[in-house]
Formats: sequence, C-alpha cells, structure tokens
Amino acid sequence: MRKALLGAAFAGALVVSALVGVGTSQAATSQPCDIYAAGGTPCVAAHSTTRALYGTYSGALYQVRRASDNTTKDIAPVSAGSYANAATQDTFCANTSCVITIIYDQSGRNNRLTQAPPGGFNGPAAGGYDNLANATAAPVTIGGHKVYGVFVAPGTGYRNNNTNGVATGDQPEGMYSIFDGTHFNGGCCFDYGNAERNSRDNGNGTMEAIYFGNIKVWGYGAGNGPWIMADLENGLFSGVNQHLNSGDPSISHRFLTAIVKGEPNHWAIRGGNAQSGSLGTFYNGVRPNVAGYNPMKKEGAIILGIGGDNSVGAAGTFYEGVMTSGYPSDATENSVQANIVAANYNTSGSTSGPAVGSTISLRATTACCTTRYISHSGATVSTQVVSASNTATEKANASWIVRAGLGSSACYSFESKNTSGQYLRHQNYQISLQANDGSSLFAQDATFCSEAGKNGQGNSFRSLNFADRYIRHYSNNVYIASNGGSNAWDATGLWADDVSWVVTAPWTP
Ligand code: AHR
Repeated sequence: MRKALLGAAFAGALVVSALVGVGTSQAATSQPCDIYAAGGTPCVAAHSTTRALYGTYSGALYQVRRASDNTTKDIAPVSAGSYANAATQDTFCANTSCVITIIYDQSGRNNRLTQAPPGGFNGPAAGGYDNLANATAAPVTIGGHKVYGVFVAPGTGYRNNNTNGVATGDQPEGMYSIFDGTHFNGGCCFDYGNAERNSRDNGNGTMEAIYFGNIKVWGYGAGNGPWIMADLENGLFSGVNQHLNSGDPSISHRFLTAIVKGEPNHWAIRGGNAQSGSLGTFYNGVRPNVAGYNPMKKEGAIILGIGGDNSVGAAGTFYEGVMTSGYPSDATENSVQANIVAANYNTSGSTSGPAVGSTISLRATTACCTTRYISHSGATVSTQVVSASNTATEKANASWIVRAGLGSSACYSFESKNTSGQYLRHQNYQISLQANDGSSLFAQDATFCSEAGKNGQGNSFRSLNFADRYIRHYSNNVYIASNGGSNAWDATGLWADDVSWVVTAPWTP
C-alpha cells in the first residue's frame, strides 16, 4: 500500500514538474512546443522573450541593442527549457537604454522576428521601418523570476517575410500567444501570426493572425472589448458574421492566452486567463460568411504588433507565442494552457515607484543639478532650485500628488499639489501642467511608468504612449526624451542622468 502511494506521488510529481517547468530550478521536460509536437501539430515558429518553449531549448531567446555603443547581446534561458536570463540584459543595458532587435525562433526553422519593413504603410523609423520595442518597458515575473515582454507602442512592429514551414494557401495551422490583456487600443492592428510576404494588403484571406484590441471598424464581440479576433485581412473576425458575434466576449485578463486556428472551411477562437483556469471556445465553425475567406490564401509571413499591410496604429504587449503546422486539437491546447498556468506569470514587484496617494518631490540626479526639482509656474514646467528658504508657493510648485496613472493603473500620473485637477502631461514632447480634459489622449499623455533609474539612482519615468521616451530635464526644461533622436533634448550625452529622478519627501506635504 505504502509503495503504491509512493509510486502515485512520484508519478504526480513527474506530471507537476513537466507542467511547471520554469517555476522550478529543474529544467522543464515538456514545454508548449513539446506538447504541440506530441499532439501531431509541431511548432514551426516559437517566439518568446520570457522563457524557452521547448524543454531542451537553451539557445538565444532574443537580442537587445544598447544605445550607448550600438552593440548587441543575445539573451538566453538560464538553463535548457527555463526562463530568460534577464539579469544579463540588465547588466548589458545599465546606464543606457536598450531595444529588442531580434526575437529568435526556437523551432529550429529560423523564423525569427526583426524590425518590420515598410509596406502598404510606412513605419515611423528611418526608411519607413517600424520602431523596435523598448527592452525594459514590459517587466514581469515568471516562476518568481524577473523577465521582460515585448511592449508594442503604436509604431512598433516585427516581421519575417521569408519564413520556412509556415502554412500557406488553405493549409491548416494553429497559434497561441500570451498578451497583457490590459494593454490594448483601437488602432489597427495588434496581431501575431500569418500575414502577407510583401507587407501589403493582398486581399481577403491572405492573413490568419491573432488580433487583440478594441477596434470596431470590422468585427467585434460582446461588450465594449477588448476582444480576441482573427485578422484574416480586410477584416478582424469575431465569428462567422462580418461585424457582431456575441459569442466572442470582452476579455482583459492581465495575462491573456489567445488562440486562433484554421483549416479548410473551419476555424476557431479560444482564450482564457494565462494565470489560472482553462480555455473557453469563443467561436468554432465555418469560415466567415463574407466572400474571399474560403478557401484561404495565407501567405506565410509572420507579424507581431502590426497589421498585414504594416498598419502601425496598435498597442499591446507580447510575452510568448507559437505557430504550428496542422490544426491543433482542443485537448492539445488545453495541455498548453495548463503549462502556461504552471509557468506562473505575474506582475513584476520590482518597479518600486512612489506610493499612490502620497505627495512627493522629484529631484534631478545629474551632477549639475542635484538641487533642482520638477516645478511648475502656471502651465510651464521646468526644474528649479528649491531649498528651505524658498517661498511656500515655490515649494508647493515643486510638490506632486502621486495618482494611479490616468491611462494605466500600473503606472502614474502626477497632479499638482497646489493646482488641483492639473497634471504633468507631454505635448510635442514637452512637459507642461494642464487640466485633465477627460480625453483618452490626455490620459495617455499624462501617464508615466516607473522603472529603476537609468543611471542607477532613483526612478526613471517612461511615457506610456511613447515607450522609448522618459521624463528628462534638458537646459532646465522638462521633456519626454529618447536616448538619441532628432530633438535637442534627445541628446545621448547625460541622457541616463537626466532621466533619473530621486523621489523625495515633498517640499509641501
Ligand atoms: O484586416 C485588418 C487589416 O486590414 C489588416 O491587418 C491590414 O492589412 C488591413 O489594413
């Protein structure tokens, strides 16, 4: 009896260790792509900046490039099958900023994602390319270990137009992705999956990608969104109908598992909470009742964060995703979901920003300016020297009430201590003090996300909607600045110091 019980416990432990993978110090034996392979639908692309998607994978997960000297570094898992070694990134990117240049393909097919080229639409970077993601903008933990996701601000995009083994025509395929279900917008189109090889709109049915967001131009589901939909080109589909399919729910788990799969005249949308529970099926049926989508004309390129024609209006965050050859069974996907839950994604506790509701002052850390604080005079915001001998008004002008971010509660907004209802916001990249007009643009422009100070002191505050820009003082004025760029305040010299602020007790409590 005792032997039988021990045997059962051992078998159970094996299953748990196979599922948990990155949550333990042991290498995982069965990760998502092992599960897909066992189901007869192997991964043909496997992308993640957070963990290995095969139990034996120990190669590079992604590559970062730092602004200080333009050199690059590959980031690998800490061991085969495990979580990303983000400490390597932190060391490499200390005192500067980094972008994600490559998201490697773990499937062995070299279907890596790199900076998306111009297509039907140009991106904002040089030559019409899309922007690369800020490598530190999406910190999370996996199994308690700090890792980074891919933060897609509008304008950011990755692509591979020359893939190997990805479904074309009406061939069957599946895909899943893990997104931040609280980071989305109504721009076109935060996608991950199959797209055109020439970055152009080649007509209905030339794409099959997972979409996440709340755009209502094409299809939509129940409620106000966001929804998981399928981007099939010239249409985001929530089911068989062109517009409303109420079986597709609004869904916004902080960590969201999103699935789209398709085979001849059959496709499905599935999804669930990547932190717990099982998947729901939101559509499972025939191709849309709109001409051009049956049979499909998939082209087999891979996109992340953009539409098939390089539309670059969307926002979102990506942690991991795969594409398969063949139409995965629900049972296979359910096992993948169990693996994802066991991997234990969580929000990062490491971004220690100021407490919401507290009043603070923000002191510059650049050697020139360590007695200067972010202050306002009416609408004008600058750094000012403040000391005990300043007037009460000058002290209050340098004091800020920390609010939950108007555009994201994971970040912050700073309300003036002595001008209630007015917040620091950027406009044309300069920070000023303005009354909250209730618009979503104001909310975005007035929201800043805290990271460890780029020069090792205090905190740096990243703009929510311009993810490569941080609050910076330059000639004593205050901007959102990137580390290098066309504006004077984007100068690389002293950038890390100028964007680092010490949160102090307020001059006016
Ligand atoms: O299908 C929706 C979008 O329409 C595609 O992503 C894009 O290529 C086109 O603009």
